[in-house]
Amino acid sequence: MNQPDTAAPDYRTELRSAMRQVMASVAVITTTAGDRPAGMTATAVSMVSLDPPSLLVCVNRSTRLYQAIADAQRFRITFLSQNHCEVAQAFGGQLPQEQRFSIGAWDLGSAYGPRLADGLVDIECALEAQLDHGSHTIFIGGAAAVRYGEGPVLLYGNGDYHRAA
Ligand SMILES: Cc1cc2nc3c(=O)[nH]c(=O)nc-3n(C[C@H](O)[C@H](O)[C@H](O)COP(=O)(O)O)c2cc1C
Repeated sequence: MNQPDTAAPDYRTELRSAMRQVMASVAVITTTAGDRPAGMTATAVSMVSLDPPSLLVCVNRSTRLYQAIADAQRFRITFLSQNHCEVAQAFGGQLPQEQRFSIGAWDLGSAYGPRLADGLVDIECALEAQLDHGSHTIFIGGAAAVRYGEGPVLLYGNGDYHRAA
């Protein structure tokens, strides 16, 4: 059946192509629900405000991490440095959840979720709000602890990982 003339244009293809070239900082989001760690690579991560100190992550509800954050009510954001390409790949779906934490030096006993020993920026977040939108949920977390080192963050764009120039 033909779409009615009034159908809203579908910009999915254009949006994907447009956003491919926009370099994004790469993070891994982790949490522990019960005694089960979960983690995934994410670029849809942003600061929300300093007042209160808060950040957001956009998580596809088909991921293991989604239910784990909903259960644990907290999560950890780790921005990766340029030598963490293998970690980003593993947590971006190259390895199943059960094998991901064997890549990198993870402290699985850490509150708020597994902690990468040499993560560039490490922020513990207490879940404060969430909003479903389409396939994803936006989780907003209040910063409960912040640690950071110095150096360039790992970037992702045009389908590949990049170092800052
Ligand atoms: C560079 C990169 C960025 C990603 N960013 C996000 C993101 O912001 N949100 C999201 O839900 N998935 C994102 N993904 C996809 C998840 O990392 C991937 O689907 C992961 O395997 C989900 O975990 P699961 O296998 O346990 O479902 C990204 C993947 C890559 C490689």
